[in-house]
Amino acid sequence: MTPEDIEHLAATLKARSGLILGSDKTYLIESRLSPVARREGFANVSALLSALRTKRDEKLMASVTDAMTTNETFFFRDKAPFDQFKSDILPALAKARLSGDLKVWCAACSTGQEPYSLAMLMDEAKPQFPRINLDILATDISDRCLEKAQAGLYTQFEVQRGLPITMMVKHFEKVDEMWRISPKLRSSIRFKKLNLLEDLRSVGRQDVIYCRNVLIYFDIETKKRVLEQMATLLADDGCLFLGAAETVLGITDAFKPMPGMRGLYIKNAASAQTGARRTA
Ligand SMILES: C[S@@+](CC[C@H](N)C(=O)[O-])C[C@H]1O[C@@H](n2cnc3c(N)ncnc32)[C@H](O)[C@@H]1O
Repeated sequence: MTPEDIEHLAATLKARSGLILGSDKTYLIESRLSPVARREGFANVSALLSALRTKRDEKLMASVTDAMTTNETFFFRDKAPFDQFKSDILPALAKARLSGDLKVWCAACSTGQEPYSLAMLMDEAKPQFPRINLDILATDISDRCLEKAQAGLYTQFEVQRGLPITMMVKHFEKVDEMWRISPKLRSSIRFKKLNLLEDLRSVGRQDVIYCRNVLIYFDIETKKRVLEQMATLLADDGCLFLGAAETVLGITDAFKPMPGMRGLYIKNAASAQTGARRTA
């Protein structure tokens, strides 16, 4: 791999997905792009990178960008963001809205475990909030991830990661060696391709945003741009969940941390003391 090839790859990834290549880049590039090189008929990763630089092959660039994204996820990841939603956010917003749609956006949903975890929670909480409909929008930049999320088919290993056995029995059925989520939960989520670097206005007003474990891959300017767009979409009494290693502090004043709730943020400018704010 020549330094020029690596530089070109880094610039392509940053422009297309916001991903900043870290210092361990050679290993990462080799391990993520070897399967792409093989699949696309290149002798090795170096040949793939040099083709990427010399030909403007949109399909190849899309495959490389997709392969370089980190898609790690699992059901009820980190637990707290789901416990907080169930015990504080959902009751507070349901009280403020009384009835109708409560809009939740999973802004980097990967293979679907995050939105399906929320759909399972809502299914359990439904008798308490019969008039509230949880409208879940789940987006990601990766076609490969969205396809898997939409299929709702998981391996034994994936369903064993974070998913309580009672929920597995209730919401999944075994299909050969895989586990398929129920059609009811599958149809309760709208999956859509969306790049967070784009204009996000098409997403519309949201009550809760989960943007977890994706900003960590962006530089500060990109994080700021994404967060500030999210603030304009979020209802004044809504809230934003970030990943355990992510924060708004030092990046933007559009949000502030919710006291006592790690990873949870509310809008700074909003003064309304309703919904999620009541729990602060
Ligand atoms: C590590 S996963 C996080 C999944 C889930 N939110 C969680 O916390 O378990 C990061 C996801 O962000 C997606 N992603 C990366 N860059 C993106 C971008 N510019 N726009 C939208 N999604 C992006 C990747 O495709 C990947 O599925």
